[in-house]
Amino acid sequence: MGEVAKLTFNGKTIDLPVIEGTEHEKGIDLAKLRSETGLITYDPGYMNSGACQSSITYIDGEAGILRYRGYPIEELAERSNFLEVSWLLLNGELPAKGALDGFAQDLRMHSMLHEDMKAFFNAFPKNAHPMAVGAAVVNAMSTFYQDSSDPSNPEHVRISTIRLLAKMPTIAAYCYKHSKGQPFIYPNNRLDYCSNFLHMMFATPCDEYVVDPAVARALDVLLILHADHEQNCSTSTVRMVGSSLANLFASISAGVAALWGPRHGGANQAVIEMLEEIAAEGISGKTFLEKCKDKNDTRRLMGFGHRVYKNYDPRAKIIKTVCMDVLSRMKRSSRLLDIAMELEGVALKDEYFVTRKLYPNVDFYSGIIYQAIGIPTDMFTVLFAMGRLPGWIAQWQELQKDPTNKIGRPRQIYTGATKRAYSPMDKR
Ligand code: CMC
Repeated sequence: MGEVAKLTFNGKTIDLPVIEGTEHEKGIDLAKLRSETGLITYDPGYMNSGACQSSITYIDGEAGILRYRGYPIEELAERSNFLEVSWLLLNGELPAKGALDGFAQDLRMHSMLHEDMKAFFNAFPKNAHPMAVGAAVVNAMSTFYQDSSDPSNPEHVRISTIRLLAKMPTIAAYCYKHSKGQPFIYPNNRLDYCSNFLHMMFATPCDEYVVDPAVARALDVLLILHADHEQNCSTSTVRMVGSSLANLFASISAGVAALWGPRHGGANQAVIEMLEEIAAEGISGKTFLEKCKDKNDTRRLMGFGHRVYKNYDPRAKIIKTVCMDVLSRMKRSSRLLDIAMELEGVALKDEYFVTRKLYPNVDFYSGIIYQAIGIPTDMFTVLFAMGRLPGWIAQWQELQKDPTNKIGRPRQIYTGATKRAYSPMDKR
């Protein structure tokens, strides 16, 4: 028998098995806790709870390490591309050339949306947030592909995976085109994944959009960096919905909704809005940080802090470099980048941020790049969703194949009224 943890309660001691991962992190297996003691665990925000065993992504938050399927994020960002990383996440290994070419071809074949879906976009108000539209359209895919939505059928899962990855950039660009009142631009299958997205965003029927390969590559790196991040809020949501055996589209749509919030993916939009506010008010970084530290002020330094990283987020390091490269290539200076760097410099020396181990996260610099390449602020989180998609799908697929897969159903400690009699209206 391996290691055990002992729990004593009401005079009875039970042994709880300790499980160990390949990177030697340990967890207590609580499967028998309730049946043997009557107790449940209480862990708001799941600060200490592992919900699954997973072989997709490894994070060491203390050391600032992130690896997909064992490959360091730095190496993937430098040498790989988003489609290859998507394959890696989904299949566990880097693809051979033929497999990658076949995958890219499959994605090209499925990049168009069903024509009837266009009407669906047009039903939304022009000022609708694109995350709301995106979540709705992804969910609506369940209505267009009803014949291939069985989570237990491998061919249904394969084709739904291809459809989602292929159509997500088209959905994202259509959200934007609708908000601008411009005609939708069909995908161009001669272009690579990111160039095609930029084409659908910025071309019009009257004007071709010439994609700058450096911009397409910067976007590709951003998508790689966002592609998976183990059991974060949106991924856990995708798994939770998937655990009820809801189809892949419904599960991913729920993930898009979870990502939207400013504590999660919505932070990239919130960062730019914060930087713009500082620029407009003309206050110093130091003065703004005082507001973020003040417990009577609800403001936080957006793009800073992380549940898992207690060190510099390795993705933020890469994004900062890409950000400076893109701006210098475009010969653009950015007041917002200057403010961000000032905030970072002051925060990393400030006792409040140092003692709480708050560092820049993935969202701190990404918006400055998106802004430089012309992406509107409310589309930033949609780009996060485009990047996170292969991770969500890989995690959903892993869950469906997991023999221990059960419906996600936490318990609670009830704190409401105890039993009481119904009182008629005239007695209240
Ligand atoms: N600014 C000011 N104070 C902060 C910040 C911040 N950005 N983040 C955490 N703190 C403080 C917090 O007030 C608390 O202080 P105290 O111990 O005195 O009460 C302490 O640091 C711990 O914070 P927490 O909220 O308990 O930590 P958490 O793990 O529950 O939250 C977080 C993590 C990411 C939600 C939080 O750091 C935050 O709100 N950051 C700003 C939003 C943001 O950038 N989100 C993107 C996260 S990375 C990408 C992603 O997940 O999508």
